[in-house]
Amino acid sequence: MARILITSALPYINGIKHLGNLAGSMAPADVQARFQRARGNEVLFLCATDEHGTPAELAAQAAGMEVRAYCDAMHEAQKALAAGFGLSFDWFGRTSSPQNAALTQHFADVLEDRGFIEERVDRQLYSLDDQRFLPDRYVEGTCPICGYGQARGDQCDNCGSLLDPLELKDPYSVISKSRNLEVRETRHLYLRQTGLESDLRAWVDARTDWPALARSIAYKHLDDGLIDRGITRDLSWGVPVLRHGRPRPGMEGKVFYVWFDAPIEYIAAAQEWADATGGDWTRWWRLDQGAQDVRYIEFMGKDNVAFHSVSFPATLLGSGEPWKTVDTLKAFNWLNWYGQPFSTSHQRGIFMDAALEILPADIWRWCLTAYAPEHSDSSFTFDQLVAAVNRDLADVLGNFVNRILRFCESRFEGVAPEGGEEGPLEAQLKADLAAGLAELTAQFEAMESRKSAQALRALWSLGNVYLQEAAPWTAIKTDPVRAAVIVRTAINLVALYARISAPILPYSAAAMAEAVGESRLDWPGDDLAAELARVPAGRPVRSPPLLFAKIEPEQVAIWSQRFGAPVEAA
Ligand code: MF3
Ligand code: ZN
Repeated sequence: MARILITSALPYINGIKHLGNLAGSMAPADVQARFQRARGNEVLFLCATDEHGTPAELAAQAAGMEVRAYCDAMHEAQKALAAGFGLSFDWFGRTSSPQNAALTQHFADVLEDRGFIEERVDRQLYSLDDQRFLPDRYVEGTCPICGYGQARGDQCDNCGSLLDPLELKDPYSVISKSRNLEVRETRHLYLRQTGLESDLRAWVDARTDWPALARSIAYKHLDDGLIDRGITRDLSWGVPVLRHGRPRPGMEGKVFYVWFDAPIEYIAAAQEWADATGGDWTRWWRLDQGAQDVRYIEFMGKDNVAFHSVSFPATLLGSGEPWKTVDTLKAFNWLNWYGQPFSTSHQRGIFMDAALEILPADIWRWCLTAYAPEHSDSSFTFDQLVAAVNRDLADVLGNFVNRILRFCESRFEGVAPEGGEEGPLEAQLKADLAAGLAELTAQFEAMESRKSAQALRALWSLGNVYLQEAAPWTAIKTDPVRAAVIVRTAINLVALYARISAPILPYSAAAMAEAVGESRLDWPGDDLAAELARVPAGRPVRSPPLLFAKIEPEQVAIWSQRFGAPVEAA
């Protein structure tokens, strides 16, 4: 049994997340967590809300709430939606937890003790009209790299470049829109990434398990050359800057930068989990406490890779302490909405709450896996949703399950029939299933979302092909014993499908398993003969309620209007 730590990028607190956020981190992380648990591995699956920084302050202000009350409410809302989507976090923490504050201050202390943090006088934009400094997202302007007009102070949404507010052309205050800004001096702490450059490169070189997208982004940042990064801000909401537990002269009232404390929450979330459950977080995170045996897999959108291949490792390596670092970093491209980015600020696309109002979680989980923005950006469209639901789920999987269980009810009184010997069709089926299962297992292991979905669909198709060829509805008239073999085999296929579909379709898998009297959804082994004998003759089975309803054109018309989808050709 292996020990596997899985984390998903931490969703920002500043609003309900859209399907793009789900597709690029939380959903694939959950599929992997469920798969690894089914394999019998010990999994710790962590996520949290990312609550500090200017996004939180600005969103609270827009909602007319105190920032802490806003974060409390949004944390609960995001937690409930995550549960609704079946995201099986072992812990859903908060970067505003006391554990994270203490650990963030600890890292700052040891990094400074080792010479990797230094205090500098920094030049920052100050807004005369707002009478305050304008860190990060409090300032916008034109991107110096690509010319995009609404680049944020910390990052350009158009080209992905990390920016310093002083680099923006024509900057203006997000609070007042004022361009009445001047550059003033203020003291800040800097993380000396330059001093860790060769350590970081050696560390990335050793991450041979990273899929290509993450590796290429990591090397791009290393090759561009690292810079020292300011890790404190003139804000009031965040982790206070202290020095060995005391206020730091000259930096009273300042807080750590959100991107300094957020990744530390991956460790703090394990501490929150341990404090709440009595678990031991150290065996997941401390190399001197057993974490050298852990495999750590991170899931995130491509915009996060710089932070997880450079800045957070700089924090961990620079501390000189025995922290576990990530083994496999799975990054995703963007999921677009008809070719344009999903956008929280423009309320463009489908958001997690609305998604669950119109369709069950499994439908979304299937679509986001089968059409994951994996090796390139991909676009969500209702056409694609309809195809995925009607073709894959309803016609292939749902149809198979309903056909065979109804037939068993009408012809065998809803009991898995006894008697008969298996023939060549069953032998062929087992050989095909064995090959398909090996492929599916390999694709899940490799975290290839689209290929996992393809391999799963291919396994479902084998069931329909088998029924087509074996034709129990004909056999029942001429050779009832043969029909019994076929029905018993197909019922066992339903049980097998429940188990292999569960990582992606947990709710439907539970319904399928229940229909054939199974409850353990562990991953099947190589011995297909044993796997297809799990449901014994004589066990009562019943057809489940409709697994997947087909989507009708009228529904698409209503949804297209509700979500402002561009009109599609009929
Ligand atoms: N909140 C960030 C985002 O949505 C992700 C932070 S992941 C962390 O892009 F690990 F750094 F916290
Ligand atoms: Zn840009």
